[in-house]
Amino acid sequence: MSALQGKTAIVTGGGGGIGRGISLALGKEGASVAVVDLDAATAEATVAQVVDSGGKAFALACDIRDSAAVDAAVAAVVDRFGTVDILVNNAMAARTHVPLEEVTDEDLELAFRTGPFASVYFMRACFPHLKGGGRVVNLRSGSEIQGLPGYGSYVPAKAAVGGLTRTAAREWGAHGITVNAVCPFALSPAAQAHFEARPEDLASALSNLSIKRTGDPEADIGRAVAFLVGPDADFITGCTLMIDGGGSFLG
Ligand SMILES: NC(=O)c1ccc[n+]([C@@H]2O[C@H](COP(=O)([O-])OP(=O)(O)OC[C@H]3O[C@@H](n4cnc5c(N)ncnc54)[C@H](O)[C@@H]3O)[C@@H](O)[C@H]2O)c1
Repeated sequence: MSALQGKTAIVTGGGGGIGRGISLALGKEGASVAVVDLDAATAEATVAQVVDSGGKAFALACDIRDSAAVDAAVAAVVDRFGTVDILVNNAMAARTHVPLEEVTDEDLELAFRTGPFASVYFMRACFPHLKGGGRVVNLRSGSEIQGLPGYGSYVPAKAAVGGLTRTAAREWGAHGITVNAVCPFALSPAAQAHFEARPEDLASALSNLSIKRTGDPEADIGRAVAFLVGPDADFITGCTLMIDGGGSFLG
């Protein structure tokens, strides 16, 4: 039997890139996947791919910056599938390549509201359903460890997601919920657009990797997330798994 048969998963930002790869990997392991995205059309495209590969999925258009919309999205998932077993807080948006002294209030709003705020919105709305065996995976970034220049709103927002992950792991272990994070590196559309505009950044990123290739959103990132939310990771919580070809090392 597939490891996630009978489980229901929410993947935020599942309409593209890494979120699509995670949705496909979880769907192939038997989970019913709620693909949440600001962009309904891309969420539907992911659903079509999950269904084509033999899985179950449905799309939910939601702006994750809006806590009432998040509550309604979680209620819709529970209505459709009966519960939520797995939450992957993947979506995030930020303006990058901005010198710190030029970071605007809007930049901070965007990064923090799509990052740690939205992650808390989803975690608290899902909590009653996650109790007794639920799994949460939050998306962090190696740029946080590196202190990447030009990422003055993104990096602190991701650092907050790291703190959230550790506190939630401590609080929710007693409820049978594991909370972990991953730091990926993959050529998502966002990363692709970035590297097309700045090819020198891709060369520099690859030269910094121990394994000299970009990650695959499904085979590398999605499969690792499937492990973290599956039965073999029952005793793993509060951890951050680097899935970045050895680009950054924790600890
Ligand atoms: N790509 C990488 O190599 C990399 C590296 C480190 C961390 N990450 C993290 O991994 C995650 C996925 O990255 P990606 O490169 O696939 O990103 P991406 O920008 O390609 O995709 C993000 C998805 O989130 C959705 N989204 C954005 N704002 C939203 C909102 N307000 N409400 C709902 N959905 C919204 C977008 O529509 C998109 O489908 C992010 O948290 C990112 O910070 C990615």
